[in-house]
Amino acid sequence: MTNFDKVINRKNTNCIKWDIDKEDVIPMWVADMDFEAPEPIVEILKKKIEHKVYGYGLIPKEYYEAEIEWWEKKFLYKIEKEWISPTIGVIPAISAVIQSFSNAGDNIILLSPVYSHFIEIIENNDRNVIYSELEYEDKYEINYVDFEKKIIQNEVKIFILCNPHNPIGQIWSKEELEKLVKICERNEVLILSDEIHRDIVYSPHKHIPLISLGEEAQGISITFTAPSKTFNLAGLKVANIITVNENLKKIIDKKLLANEINQPNIFGIEALIKAYTECDVWLNELLDYLKNNIDFTLDYISKNIPQIKVLAPEATYLMWFDCQNVKMSSKSLAKYLLKKYKLRVNYGDIYGQGGEGYIRFNIACPKETLIKSLELFKIAIENIENEE
Ligand SMILES: Cc1ncc(COP(=O)(O)O)c(C=O)c1O
Repeated sequence: MTNFDKVINRKNTNCIKWDIDKEDVIPMWVADMDFEAPEPIVEILKKKIEHKVYGYGLIPKEYYEAEIEWWEKKFLYKIEKEWISPTIGVIPAISAVIQSFSNAGDNIILLSPVYSHFIEIIENNDRNVIYSELEYEDKYEINYVDFEKKIIQNEVKIFILCNPHNPIGQIWSKEELEKLVKICERNEVLILSDEIHRDIVYSPHKHIPLISLGEEAQGISITFTAPSKTFNLAGLKVANIITVNENLKKIIDKKLLANEINQPNIFGIEALIKAYTECDVWLNELLDYLKNNIDFTLDYISKNIPQIKVLAPEATYLMWFDCQNVKMSSKSLAKYLLKKYKLRVNYGDIYGQGGEGYIRFNIACPKETLIKSLELFKIAIENIENEE
């Protein structure tokens, strides 16, 4: 059994999560986990390090076979080697694809609130973000009328889908995905399906890869996958783009080559192979641990901080706290938590329209750290009124 309770000191290791703050802060923000990677991955990396030669890599056939095997095993879907384009990360890949299929000034649509880097890369590429805000009742729902209206009005070229969806932690059902595909097809919108969170899904929910819907989806979409969220390997710089449509794939491969981002890091190559072939047991244990942390958080907040409402995530290790009853903007709340209580969270505004009033809380840490963070959060919320 993996001991996810083990507290690992990550301070002074040049990691953004812990070292962004000089003083001791509990970091419940950026989406990486405070857990060691699975042993088969550590072992292969040690072997590679001990070889002591770190020259240019070559992607072996086992790399492609591992990705293909994972899809078959986890999503009961067979992909072809010819569809896979290896690369160095999902965000660099999405950025390259944006450059390939749109021009400066074009409009790209997002279902918001959504992962903040989508917004940043669209703007950094001089494209415009168009928001179709998700509607919240008991869960988040897509407003298809608004989505299509915004596409037509703004002559949208690209839709970036977060599947499963960060920061709200929802999976998208077959029906939801089918409706989105129909709308995008009839309006000639290319879909970029970011499936980086595909493995962190809690039973009975199931991730549905967009391309598994069939030909229509395959013709107009590009999928992005990586072992980085699942196995805590973000620093190893490895990801894959899956494109069924040959014409789209040719354009993407040319762009990856032009930017020299078609070779994952040498350690990333080895790690991906091990992750997808030898780490299933570890992943099941991780999911149990994360689910336990989620249940603990839900219970703690409902009992101790009733003014905060929390959605039970179906996927991801990110929890979306509704802080609208707190009389502070979410940005001020995050600043207050950091300054007074040494607790770092992400504030909702960075996730675009619909994010204000919320904070995102990353529960992928040992229980001890989670408890400390929740205790601080409780006292901070209790004391807010005294602050005013
Ligand atoms: C939806 C989503 N896509 C992409 C990334 C980052 O991907 P990469 O590190 O491979 O660029 C993240 C990280 O949190 C994410 O949540």
